[in-house]
Amino acid sequence: MNTYSRRNFLETGMAFAGALSLRAQTLRVETSRRVELTLEARQDWIEVGGRFGHLYAFNGQIPGPIIEANPGDDVSITLLNHLPETTNLHFHGLHVPSTGNADNVMLRVPPQETLNYRFTLPSDHPAGMFWYHPHVHGSAAKQVSRGLAGVFIVRGEIDLLPEIQRAPETVLVLQDFDLDAQGEPLEPRIMERINGREGRLITVSGRVSPRINIQSGGWIRLRIVNASSSRFYRMRIEEHPFYVIGTDGGFLSQPDLQNEILLSPGERIDVMVKGDRPPGEYNIHSLPYSRGSMGMAGMVLNPATVSLATLQYEGQAEFSWNLPSKLAYIDPLPQASVRRQFQLGSAMGMSFTINGRTFKEDRVDTRAVLGAVEDWEFLNPTGMDHPMHIHTNPFQLLRSDGSAIPAWKDTVLVPARSRVAVRTMFRDFEGVSMYHCHILDHEDLGMMGALEIKIGNS
Ligand code: C2O
Ligand code: CU
Ligand code: CU
Repeated sequence: MNTYSRRNFLETGMAFAGALSLRAQTLRVETSRRVELTLEARQDWIEVGGRFGHLYAFNGQIPGPIIEANPGDDVSITLLNHLPETTNLHFHGLHVPSTGNADNVMLRVPPQETLNYRFTLPSDHPAGMFWYHPHVHGSAAKQVSRGLAGVFIVRGEIDLLPEIQRAPETVLVLQDFDLDAQGEPLEPRIMERINGREGRLITVSGRVSPRINIQSGGWIRLRIVNASSSRFYRMRIEEHPFYVIGTDGGFLSQPDLQNEILLSPGERIDVMVKGDRPPGEYNIHSLPYSRGSMGMAGMVLNPATVSLATLQYEGQAEFSWNLPSKLAYIDPLPQASVRRQFQLGSAMGMSFTINGRTFKEDRVDTRAVLGAVEDWEFLNPTGMDHPMHIHTNPFQLLRSDGSAIPAWKDTVLVPARSRVAVRTMFRDFEGVSMYHCHILDHEDLGMMGALEIKIGNS
């Protein structure tokens, strides 16, 4: 109850603020090294992007509250299910157990029931932006696309670097909704599910084209998550490059300058933007992108440029500064002892497969040994892009010469007719966890496998 009234108060305070701000939305109820809160999932009339939709929300808000924690914290989250259907929670990207009442996507919370999720973040957990969303096989796309998604930030020393800490931080949660004229969510037809549903109402942290302020001469930090079930975002800011400081699972070793960012579902990016252009308004948009096609289902092409937000100059920074040239030390992974291939495919145009099979609840598809380093190669002979995600343990992308790129990821785009290899290490936790396509309709239609990690498994 405490958490609730605090949030309501902050939200009221925010209503007049206009520009998006992370700090005002952050929910962190803290009694030394403990993060405790209740998430109530309910269908309700929620305002998104200036209109009302009969959507699914955590604690009455879309996106859900931002949870913030530190490495070593005990986290306790009580999920109250007031939806008309079974749901659960997944903590995307967190390195915590996939068993018991932790990040266990096999748990089910039927309507009107409650479940307490608990885990301890390892004391060496990387700082980064993770997120939570339901993960019931068969209804993940529906529940996420109706609004159930929220950000989970793990703070660390790196956030205290003065060059980063001085910059105002904004979280951008990219979601899309498909509503009819009355505001009821539209359920997609089979062809739309095969392509991966996309909604026409695109929102950024619940708003259409919000304003983000930047001081002339200053910096802002944008932490972006693609929480849409299928839509890709190919982002650009007029006249402003992105200084990428982090990817899905943590910081980069040094800032990486990019003009454009492609974010597929599930991926996050952490960027700094410098206010070094003439004061004014600059568009943050998503450019046309084609995700390819699955035979008869037709091509998924987003032909139009969509305006996501505006960068608005306001005020003048007291002094200017540069980013540090070194950010974090990233462990190189040792050579892999096992190499596996995962072939992505589809069956009769109605379901999606990994190595020829669709997901089955009580089947283990891949067995691995705790502590092993493995190279996983995803082969995508299909005509459609598949962003592949692995639970529990992050990975590093491999270059074609076999060397690892020093950055932590947990979701990687495997474009149509191509292959991508990653290196991962199964640290700390035994148990069954998942790997799947994060176009959630594809996951629901079978493109998921179960990985069992065991001591001495072979
Ligand atoms: Cu965000 Cu298993 O997924
Ligand atoms: Cu996940
Ligand atoms: Cu897919």
